[in-house]
Amino acid sequence: MDKLSIIRQPIEAELKRFAQLFDETMNEADGLLGRICQGIAERKGKLMRPILLMLVAKEWGEVSMAAYRAALTLELLHNASLVHDDIVDESDMRRGRPSVRSIYGNKTAVLAGDYLLSSALDSAALSGDIKIVNNVSLLGKQLSEGELLQLFNTQNTDFSEEKYYHIIRLKTASLFSAATRIGAISSGAGDDDVKQMDRLGDIIGLCFQIRDDIFDYYDNDTGKPSGNDMLEGKLTLPVLYVLNTTNDEALRAIATRVRAGSATADEIAILVSATKEQGGIRYANDQMERLSLEAKALISNFRNPEVKQALSLYIDFVSERTN
Ligand code: IPE
Ligand code: IPE
Ligand code: MG
Ligand code: MG
Repeated sequence: MDKLSIIRQPIEAELKRFAQLFDETMNEADGLLGRICQGIAERKGKLMRPILLMLVAKEWGEVSMAAYRAALTLELLHNASLVHDDIVDESDMRRGRPSVRSIYGNKTAVLAGDYLLSSALDSAALSGDIKIVNNVSLLGKQLSEGELLQLFNTQNTDFSEEKYYHIIRLKTASLFSAATRIGAISSGAGDDDVKQMDRLGDIIGLCFQIRDDIFDYYDNDTGKPSGNDMLEGKLTLPVLYVLNTTNDEALRAIATRVRAGSATADEIAILVSATKEQGGIRYANDQMERLSLEAKALISNFRNPEVKQALSLYIDFVSERTN
């Protein structure tokens, strides 16, 4: 059995119910919007955020109706952010298929993303839990702020890791930490436990994005194009490490042109090879390993053995995944 199937085992029944709820929600729209939603429902992703929320909820009790609503909220918000992200990144593939923007155009994709976002808020309200609504509103702000900071980061002149981490924490890890936080809250965990779960989701999300950024340096099975990041002026952890440690000034000059959008394809290829040769990928992997150890410590005293085992595999999966 593959790793994801083992991870899903403790919440298999709950996930089925979740998928039904997701499909029902996507069936609510008709016309053009209905077709877009159908496309998304047919080609679901890995459902990483609902899985995480439900696993954490199970450590403190059963998956409540509010937890289902919250899981649906996060998956809808995630999908909204992908539809919008593909516009910002001018990306034509998503989950191995043409992205919404490439089929219907950018204008339609902006509006469809807004619809998904509003459905997410609707589902949060239906949870009837003001704490969940609060967490979700904060999350929406973090996601937009992260994407915007990333856009403006092309004007930065330094290669600091700190800014990189700040951006990925907002644009990606915030969804994972909302999942772990809300999962714990929905089952009545105490404040200290909620705080620990917040850090668990944060670490998982950081590793998830670092791994995603590594994909971009290779041909991959993610159903998304590779080599997009530098074309978009984006410098991620592996290359940042090399830029901060190399004594090759020419590489830094290329990196500055990457950010300005004026680097040639050949120059980008040079920077990518240098990143691999000078240990950038190894460094990023080491950072994920360090973070994973901290994550494992956070679940070390979990009482539900199935949940603990699944979360431990989940932590490994985010750093090792191939899709
Ligand atoms: C993709 O997330 C966006 C990133 C945060 C890198 P996923 O890899 O979870 O996307 P799907 O939902 O499984 O397609
Ligand atoms: C992922 O951003 C997080 C989002 C806000 C969607 P990326 O641009 O790195 O994600 P992919 O690689 O397109 O999925
Ligand atoms: Mg992006
Ligand atoms: Mg993208």
